[in-house]
Amino acid sequence: ILPPAPSRSTFKTVKPASVSAPDGADPGVVAWVASIAELLEPKDVVWADGSQEELQRLIDTMLDAGTIVPVPKRPGSYLARSNPDDVARMEDRTFICSEDREDAGPTNNWRDPESMRQVLGGLFDGAMRGRTMYVIPFSMGPVGGPISKLGIEITDSPYVVASMHYMTRVGTEALQAMHGTDDWVPAVHSVGAPLAEGEADVPWPCNPTRYISHFPETREIWSFGSAYGGNALLAKKCFALRIASVQARDEGWLAEHMLLLRMKHEDGRQLHLAGAFPSACGKTNLAMLQPTIPGWTVETLGDDIVWMRPGDDGRLWAINPENGFFGVAPGTSEKTNATAMAMMTHDTIFTNVALTADGDVWWEGMTKEAPEGLIDWQGRPYDPANGPAAHPNARFTVRAEQAPSIAPDWDAPQGVPIDAIIFGGRRPTQVPLVMQARDWEHGVYVGATVSSQQTAAAEGPVGEIRRDPFAMLPFCGYNMGDYFTHWIDMGHRLSRHAPKIFSVNWFRRDDEGGFLWPGFGENARVLEWIAGRVAGTAAGVDTAIGVMPAEGALNLEGLDIDDAVVQELFEIDAKAWLGELVDVEAFFGQFGRALPTGLVRQLNHVRWRLEHV
Ligand code: GTP
Ligand code: MN
Ligand code: MN
Repeated sequence: ILPPAPSRSTFKTVKPASVSAPDGADPGVVAWVASIAELLEPKDVVWADGSQEELQRLIDTMLDAGTIVPVPKRPGSYLARSNPDDVARMEDRTFICSEDREDAGPTNNWRDPESMRQVLGGLFDGAMRGRTMYVIPFSMGPVGGPISKLGIEITDSPYVVASMHYMTRVGTEALQAMHGTDDWVPAVHSVGAPLAEGEADVPWPCNPTRYISHFPETREIWSFGSAYGGNALLAKKCFALRIASVQARDEGWLAEHMLLLRMKHEDGRQLHLAGAFPSACGKTNLAMLQPTIPGWTVETLGDDIVWMRPGDDGRLWAINPENGFFGVAPGTSEKTNATAMAMMTHDTIFTNVALTADGDVWWEGMTKEAPEGLIDWQGRPYDPANGPAAHPNARFTVRAEQAPSIAPDWDAPQGVPIDAIIFGGRRPTQVPLVMQARDWEHGVYVGATVSSQQTAAAEGPVGEIRRDPFAMLPFCGYNMGDYFTHWIDMGHRLSRHAPKIFSVNWFRRDDEGGFLWPGFGENARVLEWIAGRVAGTAAGVDTAIGVMPAEGALNLEGLDIDDAVVQELFEIDAKAWLGELVDVEAFFGQFGRALPTGLVRQLNHVRWRLEHV
């Protein structure tokens, strides 16, 4: 069985010397680390200090082991090739182990915490034999900030430690902040591949048995078997979304799968916007948008996770708790995201991309044609018969400060006050380019009914579209019905200070399957209308499903687009919407008594309007 979660009452039992803790480390931290070391039996223990020298040592270790190879064209950059069986998040191996099954809700995999502790206790017993155990103290958000949180990840993967250096604030300062408190999240990760005396290692050790487990009551994370980012960088999806969403429920704030940006006009207008889209639906792209309309610029604040808390002024204040970007590489190009291309010219860890003959990286969509002499993501000469050169979920990892568009105050501890929240997904039909929710409760309904096509190729009827409420389906650490209630409550608390809520859809298609809307930089036009709605200067028309731009209110100046196409972007097909409501009702039904009545009211209201208008 696993040792208990750290608590200040259990410190006394441990001999701190056994884990070579840095001077001044909190005894509670040391006691917990010692209890983990006793279970995992590593050959040695290394405490991460977050320094440049440490990063270099990790890189040297990984080069020796063959985990990474240099990318000579980009200084300080490396390519990691994972085991071909360890390339993505594993939703079916992700577990929420709450005491009460109801607390996990119908959309999560639940396991009884006691029996899970037994299973994990067996797997983790001696799991780090022959390996180094790294202890990574980290802070999500600036250390000591009013919205920030602390954690410790223990891992036996140097790839994880190096990635954490880029993605979070790692090291001594975070460790010192843990002094005298047990308000930090304990997270244990092992690749699950102990080495016997004299046994040779492989470049990417992992274990086909995998568990990504969360214990919401004790705030613990235990991850076994995979070294892929979403399963192994425990600060990200496991802590900053699944555990943090539970903390947010208990403490009265929000932890969301959102981008965060500021859009500014030369004349002083500005908009702070947070947006939730499901994975691979454009958060990183929108966060780095280069507006095509004159006068506006976008500053990036975050591309994947946002923590929001009501401030003393009654407004909702938001930070990006991360320190870097872990973005999807395929499809990223000078044309679609020049900012991302510019930030990856140096000091980047690439995972599962292809390598060119002249020592650069490549992926599908970077250029039209694949260059000659490519080595694919599995290290073989590229042959289209083996599939794509880069894995479709290939990623880049860079520090946030490397983005040319990063806001100068992106790491301000208090964050920024949110004006607008947008929800979107990949919807080939039906959902208009942009629409405003009538009020907060309607906005929560819009968030709760987010849905998206799994792949752009799978064109099809409503049934093939997956509901992904708030883009949080894989990331909500508790009952999603209770999560909806928490959002509705937040609206009451914020009242007249509540951000305005919108829905967007960049992905509506014409009869030939082409996108109706040019997207990318042109999305600034939609954000400009949103800014106008917030300021009270842009006109809107109330429709059955929400408020849409009035005639001429959406700035289309200089855009080559037919009136008929614009019509189509905003067309409401009442019959199709009524059909969809049947699906929404079934989706809501699974939450039973946990579903807030406000969402039922909104559903009935939309249905009534569609039937009567
Ligand atoms: P995660 O990092 O997995 O959470 O996903 P994400 O939401 O950050 O997705 P990302 O920005 O990486 O989405 C990339 C995909 O969306 C690529 O295929 C892009 O080409 C496409 N995309 C982004 N913005 C637009 C747009 O405005 N129009 C169209 N047509 N495609 C877009
Ligand atoms: Mn994401
Ligand atoms: Mn992203």
